[in-house]
Amino acid sequence: MDIQNKNIGVIGTGNMGESIIRGLIQFAKLNPTNVHAADIDEKKLNAIKDQYKIKTYSNNKNLLNEVDIVLIAVKPQQIEEVLHEISTQDKKYILIISVAAGIKTSLIEKSIGKEISVIRVMPNICATVNAAVSALCKGKHATDESFHLATTIFKSIGQVVEVKEELMDVVTGLSGSGPAYIFLAIEALSDAGVELGLTRDISTILAVQTTLGAAKMILDTGDHPSVLRDKVTSPGGTTIRGLAVLEEQNFRAALIDAVKAATERSRELSSQKKS
Ligand SMILES: NC(=O)c1ccc[n+]([C@@H]2O[C@H](COP(=O)([O-])OP(=O)(O)OC[C@H]3O[C@@H](n4cnc5c(N)ncnc54)[C@H](OP(=O)(O)O)[C@@H]3O)[C@@H](O)[C@H]2O)c1
Repeated sequence: MDIQNKNIGVIGTGNMGESIIRGLIQFAKLNPTNVHAADIDEKKLNAIKDQYKIKTYSNNKNLLNEVDIVLIAVKPQQIEEVLHEISTQDKKYILIISVAAGIKTSLIEKSIGKEISVIRVMPNICATVNAAVSALCKGKHATDESFHLATTIFKSIGQVVEVKEELMDVVTGLSGSGPAYIFLAIEALSDAGVELGLTRDISTILAVQTTLGAAKMILDTGDHPSVLRDKVTSPGGTTIRGLAVLEEQNFRAALIDAVKAATERSRELSSQKKS
């Protein structure tokens, strides 16, 4: 099934909804007439309409009449109302996608009350610069074809992986919260440069480009990070002296514990929601 001739409706045009719309039009090269967006915030909607030349709706039901695929990008506490609106439609949608954190596919299926393909996705904020990583998991009735469509949509904002639904909290703790860990690391590297005499601008670009370049080296070579680390660590040199301090200060353990703590918090939050 090809995405190009499908009508996709994005409900909620905030940070995530807008990033997906941009990805669909600029990167997946969808015809703007096939992309539809609804939001309760008319100002936001008008800005989206002006920028992407797509059809917009201030009433979700009007969008739901026009589309084959529904992508829900409202906050988790706002999803119940949207699911209720979908459940009242006679139309059989090819696919329902939700990016709402902590909302299980079983809740979506139960609320809609029909055997329908549901895919749950956990993207991250890097979608705003087209460099997200999105983890996808299938609901009970999701077909391989619908999964392929969802994959195509999320490849338009970055990379995609498939995980089992019980691992979505781990994804949240790692790549969902992960940008904040990296922002903190970059800020600390930049602070060190400033303390040692570099200007803030120069120090920050050195820290940022080093982070980007190191990540690109892992992606491009496919090497394990420890192999690349070994390659830049000469005997008796500067890097091993710096690495020794990071080990002494439990840098590695701190990151592992941060991901575990964020995962635990994600589990607590999702267990407070119905399933
Ligand atoms: N942002 C991220 O980095 C990120 C990462 C992973 C997953 N997510 C998930 O993505 C979803 C959206 O997050 P976001 O950061 O994009 O939120 P957001 O900026 O608040 O966007 C949500 C939009 O939906 C609108 N809305 C609320 N109720 C609605 C309804 N009934 N019908 C139509 N539109 C409605 C909101 O309007 P008002 O502002 O007027 O309420 C807002 O414009 C969340 O479920 C979140 O868990 C976000």
